[in-house]
Amino acid sequence: MIRALATALALIAPAALAGDYGAALPAPISAETCPTDTTDWTKAALERSLTPQLGLPPVPHPVDNPPTEAKIALGRKLFFDRRLSINRTMSCAMCHVPELGFANWELATAIGVEGRSVKRNAPSVINVGFLSPLFHDGRDPALETQFVAPLVTRNEMANPSIGHVVAELTHLPDYRPLFDAAFTAPASLDRIGQALGAYQCSLTLGNSAFDRWFYGGDEAAMDAAAQRGFELFTGKADCASCHLIDADHALFTDQAFHDTGYGRRREERRQNPPASHLVQVAPGVVHQVDFSRIRAVSAPREADLGRYEVTEEPADRWKFRTPGLRNLAVTAPYMHDGALTTLGEVLEFYNMGGAGHPDQDARIRPLGLNPAELADI
Ligand code: HEC
Ligand code: HEC
Repeated sequence: MIRALATALALIAPAALAGDYGAALPAPISAETCPTDTTDWTKAALERSLTPQLGLPPVPHPVDNPPTEAKIALGRKLFFDRRLSINRTMSCAMCHVPELGFANWELATAIGVEGRSVKRNAPSVINVGFLSPLFHDGRDPALETQFVAPLVTRNEMANPSIGHVVAELTHLPDYRPLFDAAFTAPASLDRIGQALGAYQCSLTLGNSAFDRWFYGGDEAAMDAAAQRGFELFTGKADCASCHLIDADHALFTDQAFHDTGYGRRREERRQNPPASHLVQVAPGVVHQVDFSRIRAVSAPREADLGRYEVTEEPADRWKFRTPGLRNLAVTAPYMHDGALTTLGEVLEFYNMGGAGHPDQDARIRPLGLNPAELADI
């Protein structure tokens, strides 16, 4: 079924789903594969954010930030504006790349201004309006406040302060009419957040093959293999107990934090790195590189304690928020550190029973799925 969700967009080269390490990357989304009507896009975006699509709940817009076309237009301009970073080179859209599913499937972990490394994978912001809390560790509750982090984090857009960004925007003449239209007021911290929130809430995408099959009653929308995969996903493999499927919609996440064993395994590997590493030097070109050479040129890998970094509760160590599984084929690579390149590797991880450490969630256990069952899932 994952495969069905992934291919539901029909945008993706099947090679992206091949299980091989270093398999060809999917072709970026282009005008041919994803025709868009650019006339009246704000109207269409507002409609998307107000009208539930098959398989999705209504967007839970904050009461004090109802969407309008003017806010969405302003939010989109902000999202794509490189002037919002310290050296005017980097926009939100350079890590959440629209052509790459609003994620970045070319990088395991994000890279900010001046090539500074970020320890986590940039998630897709498609359907992000349904999520709370935000980030892999859930450290921010809402889109209206979340944006401050990337703007001022040293290894992302690196602005010296958030007041600096507000001051810049107040002085940029092209923004004045847009803030006026959206808020009849000049740029402010809250208004930037509201506009970015309204724009990101319009990035909804439902009505997948799975939705048409499961919620729409269209028997032909999913083939027999995907239907068998669904049975395993919700049954023997028990994926749906965390990647939830509700009676009238599915976000494929319980929006809660779990220890799958993956974070602990990453930490063990960070402390005891393998002698050599596979490195993709160009699409499809992968070399086995001695780790000492990698270490010589890269920033040291940081530890990542997941939810613990927010709560400081020992029990939250290595817990991460369950990601939604929609549009998976355009949101590779996977997991909070993007170290799993293909869905095949993710399934292998689950089938082995995760990392097998004693504190991991009891549902992550050896699943005994045979290759045909894995293919169906
Ligand atoms: C340098 C790359 C980079 C830039 C630039 C960037 N982001 Fe992100 N974004 C990330 C990464 C990495 C994460 C995950 C971080 C984490 O979980 O700690 C993330 C997470 C998010 C999330 C949370 C998604 C979720 O599933 O919880 C949202 C929303 C978001 N970014 C929006 C933005 C906006 C808006 C901007 C511009 C103001 C922006 N990002 C700029 C890399 C980036
Ligand atoms: C105990 C809850 C739980 C169960 C059960 C579970 N998952 Fe997950 N899943 C998670 C969490 C938490 C993550 C994020 C882990 C991380 O980033 O370190 C995740 C990540 C993933 C990802 C990566 C998504 C991305 O965008 O990075 C996929 C794919 C996935 N799970 C599929 C499955 C499948 C298939 C099953 C059943 C075999 C399953 N999960 C069972 C909680 C669970």
